[in-house]
Amino acid sequence: MKFFVDTAEIDQIRELHALGMVDGVTTNPSLIAKSGRDILGVIKEICEIVEGPVSAEVVALEADAMIAEGRKLAAIAPNIAVKVPLTWDGLKACKVLSGEGNMVNVTLCFSANQALLAAKAGATFISPFIGRLDDINIDGLDLIADIRTIYDNYGFDTQILAASIRSANHMSECAKIGADVATAPPSVIKAMANHVLTDKGLAGFMADVAKAGIKIL
Ligand code: E4P
Repeated sequence: MKFFVDTAEIDQIRELHALGMVDGVTTNPSLIAKSGRDILGVIKEICEIVEGPVSAEVVALEADAMIAEGRKLAAIAPNIAVKVPLTWDGLKACKVLSGEGNMVNVTLCFSANQALLAAKAGATFISPFIGRLDDINIDGLDLIADIRTIYDNYGFDTQILAASIRSANHMSECAKIGADVATAPPSVIKAMANHVLTDKGLAGFMADVAKAGIKIL
């Protein structure tokens, strides 16, 4: 499973990228707003750090305007994935932009039917939002599994980009289901390293190091 990092914070992207943890980046208007940066400038900087797909989201609601914005975003760098919302206009924009050879990430997906439509419209990535479904007591992981089944049934090559990930458990469950990509905030990717028994085991080893005065350097 590829890891995308869900942030527009340059320092955090650099840190995870240096460890080989970043196969791509996703942003959305809220993350851009949080960064306090101009969208074109921050996306360009991210594309200079990361070789993989960098999702940059349109802000228009009507198809023609989305297409114009998408073209402008795609011109920033060859690794841009234009992100469009899963609306009828977004699907029209997806069809045109993907037909022009751009990567397109269709976002705000909350149902298997929406994912089917995005694949038919030529999406490179479909972004089902796990956490926001969990928030309304619908198991977001079930949606990932349903889309996996449907895409495999028909050989769609749209990649499942599990989004709105809130926990390390979401990451391992997505990997078990077979999501192609998971995008997560840096804090979640770091939390994947944590285990209470690791902490306990290390504390025991350190106690013995102190007791025996073990030194390596
Ligand atoms: C990424 O593409 C999504 O925009 C993001 O994962 C949404 O996450 P949230 O539901 O935590 O805002």
